[in-house]
Parts: sequence; C-alpha cells; structure tokens
Amino acid sequence: MTEPVPVRLSVRPHPRGAAGGAGGAASSAVMPLEGPLVDRYGRVHNDLRISVTDRCNLRCVYCMPEEGLSFLPQRDLLTFEEIVRLARVARGLGITAVRLTGGEPLVRKGLADLVGGLAELGFDDLAMTTNGTELAPVASKLAAAGLRRVNISCDSLDPERFAAIRRRGDLTVVLQAMDAAEAAGLTPLKVNVVLLRGQNDDEILDFAAFARRTGRIVRFIEFMPLDAEGKWERAQLVPGREVFDRIAAVWPLVALSQSSGSAPAERFVFADGEGEIGLISSVTEPFCGTCDRLRLTADGGLRNCLFSDDERTVRDLLRHGGTDAEVARHFRESVWAKFPGHGINEPGFLSPARSMSMIGG
Ligand code: 5AD
Ligand code: SF4
Repeated sequence: MTEPVPVRLSVRPHPRGAAGGAGGAASSAVMPLEGPLVDRYGRVHNDLRISVTDRCNLRCVYCMPEEGLSFLPQRDLLTFEEIVRLARVARGLGITAVRLTGGEPLVRKGLADLVGGLAELGFDDLAMTTNGTELAPVASKLAAAGLRRVNISCDSLDPERFAAIRRRGDLTVVLQAMDAAEAAGLTPLKVNVVLLRGQNDDEILDFAAFARRTGRIVRFIEFMPLDAEGKWERAQLVPGREVFDRIAAVWPLVALSQSSGSAPAERFVFADGEGEIGLISSVTEPFCGTCDRLRLTADGGLRNCLFSDDERTVRDLLRHGGTDAEVARHFRESVWAKFPGHGINEPGFLSPARSMSMIGG
C-alpha cells in the first residue's frame, strides 16, 4: 500500500462515562495483534453490526427529521463485495454474530445477495433489523439465502399513532411482515418498540398483551440521544424500570438468567409461561460494561460505540489496495480505542455527530 489512508477521528471531547461502563482501570498492556478482538477493559467483541445504507423510507420522530436529511452518494457506500471481504476478516478475528441494519436495510437493492455472501462465512448468527415495510415479499428469499431471524420495529398497535410516530408507512403492512417473517422461519421474531413519553407509553400493556398473544418477543427501548434533529430530552424517555413495574403489576414477570450476558436486553418471561419481553434500558441502566459490539457504517467507517465519534474508515483502505492484515489491524485499533462507557449520564455529554440512521442501530 503506497497512499496514506485517511482516518476520520473526532477531535471533540468525550466524557469517558464511568457509570455503567467497563469497570476498573484501563489495562496498560499494548494492543494484542492476535487472539480475539479485545479492548483495554477486557471486553471481547463478537458482534458486528453492518449498516448497508443510511437511507430509509420512514421518518420516525426519534430518528430522522421529516425533510431535509441528505444521504450518502452511492459511490461512498461499501459494495456487497467489500462488505463480505470485511466480514471475512472480522470472522477471522472472532466475530461470531452479524446483524444487518440501516437506515432501512431493505431499501438497498439485492440484499439477499449480500445475505448469501455473509451466510457462506459461517457466522453463528445472521440477523437483520428492519422497519418491516418492505419485508413481506422478500422474507422467504432472505431466509433461503441464510438469514436466521429479524427484529421488526413497530412503535404502536394503533394505525393513526403508528403513522404519527413513523410519519410514513402503514401498520397493517408491518403486521403482515411479522406474519411473513414467521412463515419464512425468521424466528424468534423480536419487535422493537421505542417508547416516547406522552406518545405511546399508554400502550405498554397493549404490547405486553401482544407479546403474550403472539409469542413475539417485544423489546421496549429507551429513547436515546441519537435522533438527527437533536431534540432528545431525558423527560421523553420511559425508563425500563417503569415498564417492568407496569407490566408486572398485571402479569408477574420472571427474569431469564441469561440476561446477565452481553445482550443489551434484560429478558423476562411471563410467570404463567405465556410469552417474553425485553427491556433495553440503554440510558437509565447502561450495559456498556458487557458491550461486545462493533459497528460498520454504510460508508465503511468502523465505530466502536454508538455514542463515540471514534470512526475509522476501512473503505479507503480497501480501495487503496490494503491487505487483509491491514484491515484486521484497523478492527483491532478501533476496538482497542473504545471508551469504558457512553457517558450519557455524565455532565458535558454530547450526542454523536452522526445520528442512528447514519450509524446503524
Ligand atoms: N433511540 C432509541 N432507539 C432508536 N432507534 C432508532 N433511533 C432511536 C433512538 N433515538 C431504534 C429503531 C430500531 C433500532 C435499529 O433502533 O426503532 O428498532
Ligand atoms: Fe427508518 Fe429505522 Fe430511523 Fe425509523 S428508526 S426512520 S425505520 S432508520
């Protein structure tokens, strides 16, 4: 490789959040050049989130502005070949789970081809987060290509409410997508609900009943400061603890023991055996201490945290003839640079420069 590779790095100060972060002092050891992808705090990274586009056909109020967002030009996006190459390197570094995200991944044409290429690499898990609007017609094709399961976002069970929160799209289509996903075997099916105070927090019990009735795992997500409009306010989020209390008052819940692992959701089953819910309390109960995730943006930026602006482009490395060993080193450096926590609850927290749809959820 002869040309210098640009590295995009934030110069903004970032509070090194301690609350909920990786405990203990940072190791003074040097970055390992072999073995698993590990950070200074001993967190081993197994999970890669790959965003395939920053575009979306919806405009959820907690994510995108209604108008005026500009999107990446096509040439800046990683090609499917580039994504598969990066995933192969990541596989060799111990990544065992891959999730496709966006924006909305299904607005990218031919996604089943990418799924097929990734499936050949033999990950233990290959999943996708989608808004469900374009899923039904392609669910069986994606499953045949090797996709294991999907998470579908759905923030209201009331059609008008759904339209108000997501600004576009249709609840009926999303409910049909859930049926299609199950018919295609993309299970267990998880339903992501971002709760917003005064907008859909009166539907907590409706969603709990939905989880009991359908067997779908409903995950209640706290609103995070990742909206493109920068309108996030703590008062708008609904704490996971409150969700738990409101549901458990009607239907007693039992914690699943494996929720202590690296998965962000605290999982609960209903005591009578009818269904499961999850609480993703990223703000009020950060799970940074067990975080095992790494993200690849649609334009080839490696990000070690949703909330940090530490982003290192690997796209330019690929396009300048970089070797797999050099790509692997970028992965290692990104993970090694990870902060102990997101710092949302620290004074001076700044939302990241790129919002959720630009990073990948
Ligand atoms: N806070 C919490 N969750 C969000 N999502 C998008 N933006 C936000 C936000 N600001 C969710 C979507 C989807 C997942 C990828 O992230 O609803 O379920
Ligand atoms: Fe699109 Fe998902 Fe953002 Fe909603 S949350 S606007 S569906 S990317």
